Amino acid sequence: MTTLNTLDKPVSKTAAINVSAISKTFKSRNGEDVVALADTDFKLNPGEFVSIVGPSGCGKSTVMRIIAGLIEPTKGAVFLNGAVIDGPSESVGIAFQRPVLLPWLTVARNIALPAELAGKMPKNKIEERVNSLLEMIKLPGSGSRYPSELSGGMQQRVSIARALMAEPAVLLMDEPFGALDALTREHMHDELLAIWSQNRSTVVFITHDITEAVYLSDRVLVMAAKPGRVIADININLPRPRRADLRGDPEFARMSAAIRELIPH
Ligand SMILES: Nc1ncnc2c1ncn2[C@@H]1O[C@H](COP(=O)(O)OP(=O)(O)OP(=O)(O)O)[C@@H](O)[C@H]1O
Ligand SMILES: [Mg+2]
Repeated sequence: MTTLNTLDKPVSKTAAINVSAISKTFKSRNGEDVVALADTDFKLNPGEFVSIVGPSGCGKSTVMRIIAGLIEPTKGAVFLNGAVIDGPSESVGIAFQRPVLLPWLTVARNIALPAELAGKMPKNKIEERVNSLLEMIKLPGSGSRYPSELSGGMQQRVSIARALMAEPAVLLMDEPFGALDALTREHMHDELLAIWSQNRSTVVFITHDITEAVYLSDRVLVMAAKPGRVIADININLPRPRRADLRGDPEFARMSAAIRELIPH
């Protein structure tokens, strides 16, 4: 497995997230109120890996966009280490449901962007880190290509590399592996866990895939729709490091089935 040799020492940054009684109501085009979230409450301890699962439209991406500081809650607030989140921050890295790459920049420049904007990492360090991220996402040597020259799955891997670039204290991932084939997806699971075990970001990971949530997480939050809210908070007491053979373990199957039962359909 490739590991990120630029992350050779553990980063001491930690981030506690407190989602405190948030509600979000959108106005639909015909003027009706859409209650995307109602009184949603949960906490993440520093360095925890938490997944959110739930049916389409239950408010998962809305929660993530609020934690990212991209939209404001209608009621309630989200706190990062006790301070209210009131806008985007460089301590929060985001990988969206679909790759959001700048078409006029090369793959390498797209990945480097958060570090270039933060202006703290020396140029040679940026280059070194971009190269190890390209290796991690299995696109070594593709730094000079443009996004339009890549497949959808490749573009998604580039956007994941970009989210990891600035070693964020909080990593928000919205169905980041949905567009990947099964083998690449399993590879990315192990890569993500390897990175996380070194830098211990606090991770919020949204997925529709229950086994993916169980494999990766310390906890899985289950959401329901209408109105969007958290209906269960399950501890995943499976030993770490997680390895591929865990997917065949009876306890793994039991936990996955129990969570599947909880998801409204
Ligand atoms: N900008 C918006 N304007 C109006 N309604 C919105 C807006 N964004 C989200 N919604 C509504 O809020 C609800 C929650 O949407 P959200 O995108 O958070 O769901 P989700 O759980 O991420 O779904 P999926 O699994 O399909 O990605 C949905 O009913 C959606 O239509
Ligand atoms: Mg979504």
